[in-house]
Amino acid sequence: MATRSALLNVMTKAADKAARGLKRDFGEVENLQVSRKGPADFVSAADLKAEKVLKEELQKARPGYGFLMEESEAVAASDDSGRRWIVDPLDGTSNFLHSLPHFAISIALEERGEIIAGLVYDPIKEDLFHAEKGQGAFLNDRRIRVSSRTRMTDCLIATGAPFAGKGDRPQFLGEIDAVMANTAGIRRWGAAALDLAYVAAGRFDGFWERGLSPWDYAAGLILLREAGGYVSEMNGKALTLGSPSILATNNAIHSDLMKLLRKPLSN
Ligand code: IPD
Ligand code: CA
Ligand code: CA
Repeated sequence: MATRSALLNVMTKAADKAARGLKRDFGEVENLQVSRKGPADFVSAADLKAEKVLKEELQKARPGYGFLMEESEAVAASDDSGRRWIVDPLDGTSNFLHSLPHFAISIALEERGEIIAGLVYDPIKEDLFHAEKGQGAFLNDRRIRVSSRTRMTDCLIATGAPFAGKGDRPQFLGEIDAVMANTAGIRRWGAAALDLAYVAAGRFDGFWERGLSPWDYAAGLILLREAGGYVSEMNGKALTLGSPSILATNNAIHSDLMKLLRKPLSN
């Protein structure tokens, strides 16, 4: 069993504390589905509460680090570490809102533009994915690696689909058309941080999505790299935290999947 570093202990402790609240609230959401008002306000309060807990815990342990968090203003580092936390307190909000047990807390640590540690925690399945630069990627302290599948027809590919008011549907329809026809299947599970963690763990063979924000993929990025995967923009360009799209794979299928996604609508 791998020993976790002090840094990972800080991240795990914060995630654990926020997860306890999220789990409690998730139990309550089920009851609210049938209420006239529905659970929407309750869920956004749960999201904000989780972010507050994470911020407090991380700040207590590393007072000088900055923050980039989904629900609040960015804060620059106040020490000379050049480090900031990139946090999504609840990835998979729609799942949470609909009582679907597939969501996660995502915490990454960036140092002068580079992600050096990442954690994605699914509190329902108790899956804790974590990685530090140069140290490999782990699921609950067991080393994980990307899949070794090389034939597209064997591969299971995850994605994120546009929803009301978001994204380019015709473009996406062209993409899923090409991927459907050439792979073992497509999954849209609704939590990008977990999609990336699952590619890192060899559960999915690839993942693509457009229009994500840095907190959706910062932690997943290092998990994937440390598990032997490859990640770029969908056009093959180097991924940055401002990239408009992401393509993450087990490395072996990267260029094949990229080519498929370039295909125009077949009808
Ligand atoms: C969303 C999830 C989803 C992805 C969306 C994200 P949220 O994050 O990661 O899978 O398709 O683009 O915004 O809103 O649940 O934190
Ligand atoms: Ca998210
Ligand atoms: Ca979120």
